[in-house]
Amino acid sequence: MEQELEQLRDEALASLETVSDDAQLESFRVNYLGRNGQISAIMKQLGTVSKEDRPRLGQRANSIKKELEEAYSSRKTSLLPASQTAATDNPDLSLPGRKHQKGKLHPVTQIMEEVCGIFESMGFSIAEGPEIELDYYNFEALNIPAHHPARDMHDTFYISDNTLLRTHTSPMQARVMENQQPPLRVIAPGKVYRCDSDITHTPMFHQVEGLLVDQKVSFADLKGVLTVFTRKIFGKDLPLRFRPSFFPFTEPSAEVDIACVICNGEGCRVCKKTGWLEILGSGMIDPEVFKMVGYDPEIYSGFAFGLGVERIAMLKYGIDDIRLYYENDLRFLSQF
Ligand code: DAH
Repeated sequence: MEQELEQLRDEALASLETVSDDAQLESFRVNYLGRNGQISAIMKQLGTVSKEDRPRLGQRANSIKKELEEAYSSRKTSLLPASQTAATDNPDLSLPGRKHQKGKLHPVTQIMEEVCGIFESMGFSIAEGPEIELDYYNFEALNIPAHHPARDMHDTFYISDNTLLRTHTSPMQARVMENQQPPLRVIAPGKVYRCDSDITHTPMFHQVEGLLVDQKVSFADLKGVLTVFTRKIFGKDLPLRFRPSFFPFTEPSAEVDIACVICNGEGCRVCKKTGWLEILGSGMIDPEVFKMVGYDPEIYSGFAFGLGVERIAMLKYGIDDIRLYYENDLRFLSQF
Protein backbone atom coordinates (compact mmCIF):
# COMPACT_ATOMS: atom_id res chain seq x y z
CA MET A 1 0.00 0.00 0.00
CA GLU A 2 2.86 2.28 0.80
CA GLN A 3 4.20 1.90 -2.70
CA GLU A 4 0.77 2.45 -4.16
CA LEU A 5 0.48 5.74 -2.29
CA GLU A 6 3.86 7.06 -3.47
CA GLN A 7 3.08 6.04 -7.00
CA LEU A 8 -0.24 7.80 -6.89
CA ARG A 9 1.42 10.96 -5.63
CA ASP A 10 4.07 11.03 -8.38
CA GLU A 11 1.53 10.26 -11.05
CA ALA A 12 -0.86 12.96 -9.83
CA LEU A 13 1.83 15.64 -9.67
CA ALA A 14 3.04 14.72 -13.15
CA SER A 15 -0.48 14.88 -14.54
CA LEU A 16 -1.04 18.28 -12.96
CA GLU A 17 1.95 19.57 -14.94
CA THR A 18 0.14 18.78 -18.18
CA VAL A 19 -3.12 20.49 -17.21
CA SER A 20 -3.66 23.48 -19.46
CA ASP A 21 -7.28 24.57 -19.01
CA ASP A 22 -10.13 24.66 -16.51
CA ALA A 23 -11.81 21.49 -17.78
CA GLN A 24 -8.63 19.45 -17.39
CA LEU A 25 -8.06 20.93 -13.97
CA GLU A 26 -11.54 19.92 -12.91
CA SER A 27 -11.08 16.37 -14.12
CA PHE A 28 -7.80 16.22 -12.19
CA ARG A 29 -9.68 17.28 -9.08
CA VAL A 30 -12.43 14.71 -9.55
CA ASN A 31 -10.00 11.93 -10.36
CA TYR A 32 -7.60 12.45 -7.48
CA LEU A 33 -9.18 14.63 -4.83
CA GLY A 34 -12.92 14.06 -5.31
CA ARG A 35 -15.13 12.10 -2.96
CA ASN A 36 -14.84 9.05 -5.18
CA GLY A 37 -11.30 9.87 -6.30
CA GLN A 38 -8.17 7.77 -5.93
CA ILE A 39 -7.00 9.27 -2.65
CA SER A 40 -10.34 8.52 -1.04
CA ALA A 41 -10.22 5.01 -2.44
CA ILE A 42 -6.86 4.34 -0.78
CA MET A 43 -8.01 5.86 2.49
CA LYS A 44 -10.99 3.57 2.51
CA GLN A 45 -8.62 0.59 2.35
CA LEU A 46 -6.77 1.72 5.48
CA GLY A 47 -9.17 -0.35 7.54
CA THR A 48 -7.73 -3.53 6.02
CA VAL A 49 -4.04 -2.92 6.88
CA SER A 50 -2.48 -4.17 10.11
CA LYS A 51 -2.88 -2.16 13.30
CA GLU A 52 0.85 -1.38 13.49
CA ASP A 53 1.03 0.04 9.97
CA ARG A 54 -2.26 1.91 10.04
CA PRO A 55 -1.19 5.15 11.81
CA ARG A 56 1.88 5.63 9.67
CA LEU A 57 0.06 4.94 6.41
CA GLY A 58 -2.87 7.08 7.48
CA GLN A 59 -0.54 9.97 8.18
CA ARG A 60 1.23 9.62 4.88
CA ALA A 61 -2.06 9.44 2.97
CA ASN A 62 -3.19 12.64 4.64
CA SER A 63 0.00 14.49 3.93
CA ILE A 64 -0.13 13.45 0.26
CA LYS A 65 -3.72 14.63 0.06
CA LYS A 66 -2.72 17.98 1.45
CA GLU A 67 0.21 18.29 -0.89
CA LEU A 68 -2.02 17.55 -3.91
CA GLU A 69 -4.64 20.04 -2.74
CA GLU A 70 -2.02 22.74 -2.47
CA ALA A 71 -0.58 21.90 -5.86
CA TYR A 72 -4.11 21.97 -7.26
CA SER A 73 -4.87 25.46 -5.94
CA SER A 74 -1.59 26.95 -7.07
CA ARG A 75 -2.21 25.49 -10.53
CA LYS A 76 -5.66 27.04 -10.43
CA THR A 77 -4.19 30.48 -9.75
CA SER A 78 -1.65 30.12 -12.50
CA LEU A 79 -4.45 29.31 -14.96
CA LEU A 80 -6.30 32.57 -14.19
CA PRO A 81 -6.60 34.85 -17.23
CA ALA A 82 -3.73 37.29 -17.52
CA SER A 83 -6.09 40.23 -17.03
CA GLN A 84 -7.00 39.06 -13.51
CA THR A 85 -3.49 38.40 -12.31
CA ALA A 86 -2.36 41.65 -13.85
CA ALA A 87 -4.94 43.51 -11.75
CA THR A 88 -3.38 42.29 -8.53
CA ASP A 89 0.17 42.94 -9.68
CA ASN A 90 -0.65 46.29 -11.09
CA PRO A 91 -3.61 47.90 -9.30
CA ASP A 92 -5.54 50.75 -10.84
CA LEU A 93 -4.68 53.65 -8.55
CA SER A 94 -7.33 55.87 -10.07
CA LEU A 95 -10.18 53.74 -8.65
CA PRO A 96 -12.18 55.43 -5.86
CA GLY A 97 -11.34 54.20 -2.32
CA ARG A 98 -13.56 51.83 -0.36
CA LYS A 99 -15.84 53.48 2.15
CA HIS A 100 -15.57 52.48 5.78
CA GLN A 101 -18.63 52.68 8.01
CA LYS A 102 -18.05 55.06 10.86
CA GLY A 103 -18.94 53.91 14.38
CA LYS A 104 -20.86 56.16 16.76
CA LEU A 105 -21.27 56.47 20.47
CA HIS A 106 -24.40 54.87 21.90
CA PRO A 107 -27.11 57.49 22.62
CA VAL A 108 -26.93 56.68 26.34
CA THR A 109 -23.15 57.23 26.29
CA GLN A 110 -23.65 60.51 24.46
CA ILE A 111 -26.10 61.81 27.05
CA MET A 112 -23.95 60.48 29.89
CA GLU A 113 -21.00 62.46 28.55
CA GLU A 114 -23.14 65.53 28.08
CA VAL A 115 -24.52 65.33 31.64
CA CYS A 116 -21.03 64.86 33.09
CA GLY A 117 -19.70 67.74 30.98
CA ILE A 118 -22.35 70.13 32.30
CA PHE A 119 -21.57 69.30 35.93
CA GLU A 120 -17.82 69.45 35.29
CA SER A 121 -18.35 72.97 33.95
CA MET A 122 -19.86 73.80 37.36
CA GLY A 123 -16.79 72.52 39.18
CA PHE A 124 -17.90 68.96 39.97
CA SER A 125 -15.34 66.18 39.70
CA ILE A 126 -16.13 62.60 38.71
CA ALA A 127 -15.96 59.58 41.02
CA GLU A 128 -16.65 56.00 40.03
CA GLY A 129 -17.44 53.05 42.25
CA PRO A 130 -18.29 49.35 42.20
CA GLU A 131 -21.42 47.95 40.58
CA ILE A 132 -21.20 44.97 42.92
CA GLU A 133 -21.86 46.75 46.16
CA LEU A 134 -22.08 45.97 49.83
CA ASP A 135 -25.52 46.05 51.39
CA TYR A 136 -23.99 48.52 53.82
CA TYR A 137 -23.32 51.23 51.22
CA ASN A 138 -26.41 50.59 49.13
CA PHE A 139 -28.79 50.78 52.10
CA GLU A 140 -27.41 50.99 55.64
CA ALA A 141 -25.11 54.00 55.16
CA LEU A 142 -27.97 55.80 53.42
CA ASN A 143 -30.17 55.59 56.47
CA ILE A 144 -32.11 52.61 55.08
CA PRO A 145 -31.82 49.92 57.81
CA ALA A 146 -32.83 46.30 57.16
CA HIS A 147 -36.38 46.73 58.42
CA HIS A 148 -36.95 50.04 56.63
CA PRO A 149 -39.94 50.12 54.28
CA ALA A 150 -37.90 52.14 51.76
CA ARG A 151 -36.12 48.89 50.83
CA ASP A 152 -39.34 47.91 49.11
CA MET A 153 -38.71 50.66 46.57
CA HIS A 154 -35.85 48.64 45.16
CA ASP A 155 -36.16 45.27 43.51
CA THR A 156 -32.69 44.21 44.41
CA PHE A 157 -30.53 41.57 42.73
CA TYR A 158 -28.76 40.02 45.72
CA ILE A 159 -25.48 38.17 45.19
CA SER A 160 -25.16 37.04 48.78
CA ASP A 161 -26.61 38.16 52.11
CA ASN A 162 -24.46 41.26 52.15
CA THR A 163 -23.51 41.87 48.51
CA LEU A 164 -25.77 42.98 45.71
CA LEU A 165 -25.85 44.76 42.36
CA ARG A 166 -26.23 48.38 43.35
CA THR A 167 -29.81 49.61 42.87
CA HIS A 168 -28.75 53.24 42.58
CA THR A 169 -25.59 55.39 42.46
CA SER A 170 -26.36 56.86 45.90
CA PRO A 171 -23.92 54.45 47.68
CA MET A 172 -21.21 56.62 46.11
CA GLN A 173 -22.32 59.42 48.45
CA ALA A 174 -21.14 57.43 51.45
CA ARG A 175 -18.01 56.13 49.70
CA VAL A 176 -16.92 59.63 48.63
CA MET A 177 -17.61 61.21 52.03
CA GLU A 178 -15.71 58.45 53.83
CA ASN A 179 -12.63 59.24 51.77
CA GLN A 180 -12.74 63.01 51.39
CA GLN A 181 -13.26 65.96 53.64
CA PRO A 182 -15.55 68.87 52.72
CA PRO A 183 -15.81 71.08 50.80
CA LEU A 184 -16.60 68.64 47.99
CA ARG A 185 -18.45 68.65 44.71
CA VAL A 186 -18.66 65.27 43.06
CA ILE A 187 -20.76 63.42 40.52
CA ALA A 188 -20.82 59.63 40.22
CA PRO A 189 -22.07 58.24 36.91
CA GLY A 190 -22.61 54.54 36.33
CA LYS A 191 -24.72 51.45 35.81
CA VAL A 192 -27.37 50.40 38.30
CA TYR A 193 -29.58 47.31 38.44
CA ARG A 194 -33.15 46.53 39.41
CA CYS A 195 -35.24 43.49 38.77
CA ASP A 196 -37.75 45.25 36.56
CA SER A 197 -38.60 45.23 32.85
CA ASP A 198 -41.28 47.05 30.82
CA ILE A 199 -41.47 50.01 28.45
CA THR A 200 -40.05 52.40 31.02
CA HIS A 201 -37.75 50.01 32.93
CA THR A 202 -34.77 47.82 32.02
CA PRO A 203 -32.95 45.60 34.56
CA MET A 204 -29.79 47.65 33.98
CA PHE A 205 -29.82 51.39 33.48
CA HIS A 206 -27.62 54.40 34.14
CA GLN A 207 -27.72 57.07 36.81
CA VAL A 208 -25.67 60.10 37.66
CA GLU A 209 -25.42 60.91 41.35
CA GLY A 210 -24.50 64.40 42.49
CA LEU A 211 -23.15 65.49 45.83
CA LEU A 212 -22.10 68.86 47.19
CA VAL A 213 -21.02 69.41 50.80
CA ASP A 214 -19.71 72.58 52.41
CA GLN A 215 -20.59 75.00 55.17
CA LYS A 216 -23.88 76.87 54.79
CA VAL A 217 -25.11 75.00 51.71
CA SER A 218 -28.82 75.63 51.30
CA PHE A 219 -31.75 74.38 49.30
CA ALA A 220 -31.38 77.47 47.13
CA ASP A 221 -27.97 76.16 46.01
CA LEU A 222 -29.56 72.86 45.02
CA LYS A 223 -32.23 74.70 43.04
CA GLY A 224 -29.63 76.86 41.34
CA VAL A 225 -27.42 73.96 40.26
CA LEU A 226 -30.35 71.88 38.99
CA THR A 227 -31.88 74.81 37.16
CA VAL A 228 -28.62 75.44 35.30
CA PHE A 229 -28.34 71.73 34.54
CA THR A 230 -31.86 71.27 33.12
CA ARG A 231 -31.57 74.40 30.99
CA LYS A 232 -28.29 73.23 29.55
CA ILE A 233 -29.28 69.65 28.88
CA PHE A 234 -32.66 70.43 27.30
CA GLY A 235 -31.34 73.52 25.60
CA LYS A 236 -34.20 75.86 26.46
CA ASP A 237 -35.66 77.86 29.29
CA LEU A 238 -37.90 75.10 30.60
CA PRO A 239 -40.12 75.72 33.62
CA LEU A 240 -38.99 73.59 36.57
CA ARG A 241 -40.83 72.53 39.69
CA PHE A 242 -39.67 71.03 42.98
CA ARG A 243 -42.24 68.64 44.39
CA PRO A 244 -41.93 67.55 48.05
CA SER A 245 -40.99 63.87 48.31
CA PHE A 246 -39.28 61.43 50.62
CA PHE A 247 -35.91 59.67 50.51
CA PRO A 248 -34.38 58.24 53.70
CA PHE A 249 -31.00 59.84 52.98
CA THR A 250 -32.20 63.40 52.32
CA GLU A 251 -34.29 65.76 54.44
CA PRO A 252 -36.12 67.63 53.08
CA SER A 253 -36.39 65.75 49.78
CA ALA A 254 -37.79 66.85 46.47
CA GLU A 255 -38.48 65.36 43.12
CA VAL A 256 -37.79 67.66 40.22
CA ASP A 257 -40.17 67.94 37.29
CA ILE A 258 -39.70 69.77 34.02
CA ALA A 259 -42.51 71.10 31.88
CA CYS A 260 -43.40 68.32 29.44
CA VAL A 261 -41.02 68.56 26.49
CA ILE A 262 -43.61 66.98 24.20
CA CYS A 263 -46.63 69.26 24.85
CA ASN A 264 -44.90 72.23 26.55
CA GLY A 265 -47.04 71.79 29.64
CA GLU A 266 -50.39 71.61 27.87
CA GLY A 267 -51.02 68.00 28.95
CA CYS A 268 -50.52 64.93 26.74
CA ARG A 269 -50.18 61.14 26.82
CA VAL A 270 -46.47 61.24 27.75
CA CYS A 271 -46.98 63.47 30.80
CA LYS A 272 -50.27 61.76 31.61
CA LYS A 273 -52.12 65.07 31.17
CA THR A 274 -50.22 66.70 34.05
CA GLY A 275 -48.01 68.92 31.91
CA TRP A 276 -44.98 67.82 34.00
CA LEU A 277 -42.31 65.13 33.70
CA GLU A 278 -40.28 63.86 36.64
CA ILE A 279 -36.55 63.87 35.91
CA LEU A 280 -34.71 63.36 39.18
CA GLY A 281 -34.73 62.90 42.94
CA SER A 282 -32.89 65.24 45.25
CA GLY A 283 -32.67 66.78 48.69
CA MET A 284 -30.54 68.09 51.52
CA ILE A 285 -28.28 65.36 52.92
CA ASP A 286 -29.81 63.89 56.07
CA PRO A 287 -27.77 64.57 59.25
CA GLU A 288 -27.92 60.81 59.97
CA VAL A 289 -25.92 60.15 56.78
CA PHE A 290 -23.34 62.75 57.81
CA LYS A 291 -22.99 61.10 61.21
CA MET A 292 -22.37 57.71 59.61
CA VAL A 293 -19.45 59.02 57.54
CA GLY A 294 -18.06 61.06 60.43
CA TYR A 295 -19.01 64.58 59.27
CA ASP A 296 -20.35 67.01 61.88
CA PRO A 297 -23.89 67.98 60.81
CA GLU A 298 -23.63 71.09 63.00
CA ILE A 299 -20.84 72.38 60.78
CA TYR A 300 -21.62 70.97 57.37
CA SER A 301 -24.63 70.82 55.13
CA GLY A 302 -25.02 69.63 51.59
CA PHE A 303 -27.30 68.44 48.87
CA ALA A 304 -27.53 65.35 46.71
CA PHE A 305 -29.43 64.35 43.64
CA GLY A 306 -29.77 61.33 41.40
CA LEU A 307 -30.96 61.27 37.82
CA GLY A 308 -31.74 58.55 35.31
CA VAL A 309 -29.72 58.90 32.11
CA GLU A 310 -32.00 56.80 29.87
CA ARG A 311 -34.94 58.88 31.02
CA ILE A 312 -33.23 62.15 30.15
CA ALA A 313 -32.33 60.76 26.71
CA MET A 314 -35.92 59.56 26.17
CA LEU A 315 -37.29 63.01 26.95
CA LYS A 316 -34.67 64.79 24.92
CA TYR A 317 -35.14 62.63 21.84
CA GLY A 318 -38.84 61.75 22.22
CA ILE A 319 -38.21 57.99 22.59
CA ASP A 320 -41.18 56.14 24.04
CA ASP A 321 -39.73 52.67 24.79
CA ILE A 322 -36.60 52.36 26.95
CA ARG A 323 -35.91 48.84 25.66
CA LEU A 324 -34.95 50.26 22.25
CA TYR A 325 -31.61 51.31 23.73
CA TYR A 326 -30.58 47.73 24.34
CA GLU A 327 -31.80 45.89 21.27
CA ASN A 328 -28.72 46.85 19.21
CA ASP A 329 -30.83 47.74 16.18
CA LEU A 330 -28.62 49.93 14.01
CA ARG A 331 -31.67 51.56 12.38
CA PHE A 332 -32.44 52.98 15.83
CA LEU A 333 -28.90 53.62 17.05
CA SER A 334 -27.64 55.35 13.92
CA GLN A 335 -30.16 58.16 14.32
CA PHE A 336 -28.18 59.74 17.15
N1 DAH B 1 -31.24 57.05 44.66
C1 DAH B 1 -32.58 57.49 44.33
C2 DAH B 1 -33.21 56.46 43.40
O1 DAH B 1 -32.52 55.76 42.73
C3 DAH B 1 -32.54 58.83 43.65
C4 DAH B 1 -32.11 59.92 44.55
C5 DAH B 1 -33.03 60.62 45.30
C6 DAH B 1 -30.77 60.26 44.68
C7 DAH B 1 -32.66 61.64 46.13
C8 DAH B 1 -30.39 61.30 45.51
C9 DAH B 1 -31.35 61.98 46.23
O2 DAH B 1 -29.10 61.66 45.66
O3 DAH B 1 -30.95 63.01 47.05
O4 DAH B 1 -34.41 56.39 43.33
